[in-house]
Amino acid sequence: TVPGLTVPNPDESIASARPERIPVRRTILMCKPDYFTVVYRINPWMDPAIPTDTALAVAQWQTLYDTYVGLGFDVHLIDPIDGLPDMVYAANGGFVVDNIAYGAAFTYPERQPEGPAYMDWFRESGFDVRVPVEINEGEGDFLLVGDAILAGTGFRSASNSHEEVSAIYGRPVITLNLINPSFYHLDTAIAVLDDTNIAYLPSAFDEPSLVILRERYPDAIIVTEEDAAILGLNSYSDGYNVVIAARAKDFERQLRARGYNPIGVDLSELLLGGGGVKCCTLELRR
Ligand code: ARG
Repeated sequence: TVPGLTVPNPDESIASARPERIPVRRTILMCKPDYFTVVYRINPWMDPAIPTDTALAVAQWQTLYDTYVGLGFDVHLIDPIDGLPDMVYAANGGFVVDNIAYGAAFTYPERQPEGPAYMDWFRESGFDVRVPVEINEGEGDFLLVGDAILAGTGFRSASNSHEEVSAIYGRPVITLNLINPSFYHLDTAIAVLDDTNIAYLPSAFDEPSLVILRERYPDAIIVTEEDAAILGLNSYSDGYNVVIAARAKDFERQLRARGYNPIGVDLSELLLGGGGVKCCTLELRR
C-alpha cells in the first residue's frame, strides 16, 4: 500500500452507507406459559396428538423475557389462567395505542375468555379500555407502522373490526387480506422493523394487498418461504434490535445487511401452538 493513503475498509464503507438505526425503549406485556399445552386445533400448526413440554415452553419463554429485559424494555406480566393454554400469545390480548386499549373478541370459543381477562388487566393498569363489538384478535392482526395501522383479515379478525379501529384511533387503517391458513394472523406474515420499514412474505397475501404493500414499502425485506415456515417473521423490533426466531437464518442475514441487530431466540415449543416471538409480545403505548 502507498504510505499516507488509507484504503477504506469495504465493510466500514458499507456500514457508513447504512441508515442509522435507533433503538426505542419498548413497554410490553407478556404472559408466562404456565398452562401452555395443545389440546385443540384452531390453526394448522396445532396438533393435539403431538405432546407438548410445558416446562420447556416456560424455559424458552423465559429466555425471550430475559432478552427483552436485557434490551432495557419495560416488561409487564399478566397472570396466566389455568385452562387458557393460548394465553401466552399476549399479542392477541388487545391493541394498545395512545393509552387506549381496544379489547380482543376471539374467533374461537376456546380463546374467548382471554378477551375479558386482558381487558381487566388493561383497566387495572390505567388504560382507557374499549370493549370491542367486532371479532378481532388484537395485535395479532393490527400492526402500527409509523402513523398507520396495518390490519389483517381473512382468518381471524373480521374486516368490520378495521372500521372499529379506525373510528377509535382516527388513524389510517390499511386492510390486508391473508390467504394462507398457515399465516392466519398478520403478525405471522409481516414484521414491523421501525416507523417506516417492514418485512413480509408475499405469498401470504392476495394480489390487491400486494399492490398496497409494494407501493407503501418498496424497500421492504422479502423473507424466504423457508424462514416464514418456522414463523421467522413473527419477530419484535425496537428499531435497532430485532428479536427473531433463531432458525430464520436468511432473515437474520438481511436484517444485518440493513443495519439492524438481529437476536435469535428459540421458541420451538411455542411454535407447536402456532406462535413465535411476536405472538408472545403485546406492545403497550401510553
Ligand atoms: N394458538 C394460537 C391461536 O391459534 C396462536 C396465536 C398466535 N398469535 C399470534 N399473534 N400470531 O390463536
